Amino acid sequence: MKIPARLPSVPLRSPWRSPLRGPWLTSVLGLVLLCGIPVLFLTGLLSYAAYNPNLSPVNDQTPDKGLLGFYLFSWPTHPYWLYRVNQGVHVTLGIVLVPVLLAKLWSVVPKLFALPPVRSPGHALERLSLLLLVGGGIFEFLTGILNVQLDYIFPGSFYPLHFYGAWVFFGAVTAHVAIRLPRTLRAVRGRDLWAELRTSRTRTRPEPDDRSGLVSSRPAEPTMSRRGALGMVGLGSVALFGVTAGQSIGGPLRETALLAPHGRQPGSGPNGFPVNKTAAYARIRATDVDDSWRLVVRGRGEEVSLSLPQLRQLPQHRSALPIACVEGWSTENQQWEGVRLADLAKLVGYAADPPDVFVESVQRGGAFRAAAMRDNQVRDGRSLLALRVNGAVLSHDHGYPARIIVPNAPGVMNTKWVGRLSFGATVPGGQS
Ligand code: HEM
Repeated sequence: MKIPARLPSVPLRSPWRSPLRGPWLTSVLGLVLLCGIPVLFLTGLLSYAAYNPNLSPVNDQTPDKGLLGFYLFSWPTHPYWLYRVNQGVHVTLGIVLVPVLLAKLWSVVPKLFALPPVRSPGHALERLSLLLLVGGGIFEFLTGILNVQLDYIFPGSFYPLHFYGAWVFFGAVTAHVAIRLPRTLRAVRGRDLWAELRTSRTRTRPEPDDRSGLVSSRPAEPTMSRRGALGMVGLGSVALFGVTAGQSIGGPLRETALLAPHGRQPGSGPNGFPVNKTAAYARIRATDVDDSWRLVVRGRGEEVSLSLPQLRQLPQHRSALPIACVEGWSTENQQWEGVRLADLAKLVGYAADPPDVFVESVQRGGAFRAAAMRDNQVRDGRSLLALRVNGAVLSHDHGYPARIIVPNAPGVMNTKWVGRLSFGATVPGGQS
């Protein structure tokens, strides 16, 4: 018996009755996502590059990335605000695009559940790419939002999940755009946006059925106009912007960041600015940071041990730098005071051109107990082992007795409660 190459579509009574669905609405939402998703992908890739993952396995949360790390480069210290802006844009834009993503999925739902699910080998391929697109999109947004809300309920480490998910999703987006862009532009040009924005609910009519499977075969009475639907999506994005962006912009707007997981009142006084990991969370004991604390500096086979008073005797410098967290929130510039990393390198024989340095904390708990800093970061005169901030001694939560502060580095790379600096090394116990 000969099997037909293309199974006929089954004319079932479609449950999808909204008169708003159609190629125009879907295309308008698609174009908004087309503007935002490449920015999300790029800022995400830069977020990963900012760890200098190729410098040390300690810096790399996705060591098996292979060729996907082709783009990595030495993360710069200029401009000092780049990472702050990059991460703020990544997280805020991601959250602001959620209503658009959900509206786009709503607009194409009839296609996702069209029967039969596969009509031909070519149609099967298209369905598979849609699965990667929709599945990848939901996965990326979901893991991102759970991460910034500190809900680490995803199966495994966030980093590889979100990193590989990003490549799958962006690959599917690229294929989708390559196939659909001409039709999308035709659909958008097919209706006058301003006329649509002047069309009330009562005058709203279904789009002509172009057999795309989006237009309802038995449309119900409109309960809303397309203008209303787009307005609702826009309002949702503006509202999410309003309760998110303040955590990145800072200042008085910090109060508006209702979704900020670390709270909106970081306290007052010189140390009154947001904290990611507290001393308690890092299981810092009083004995770890009392007068017996010593900073060990190693390099070229030499080792120097310095007490806090001895560190205070060394030339002190100031840097005005923000803390920019990987989760997207950041502080305003804080006035840091301390010893230049380059000056500490001199103590172990690196008079000129200090090398990379491996930084180890005395913390017992939490991630990022150590990090490798590249030579360009060590050599930057604003890179400090900070002992004071805003004119006062560092608080325990901000890394007393000493913490790293480097321009344009992700917050987690600015190690707190520093115990050892190994110049010329990038791994624990490495040659220095
Ligand atoms: C609401 C949406 C999103 C949020 C809240 C979000 C959040 C985040 C956060 C917090 C990080 C930094 C993780 C860290 O270093 O600790 C990150 C990294 C990243 N994001 Fe997103 N993201 C979102 C959507 C996306 C999308 C749609 C893409 C891809 C198109 C993407 C691609 C990436 C990449 C490639 C990284 C680097 C991963 C790594 O460091 O290993 N993100 N994202």
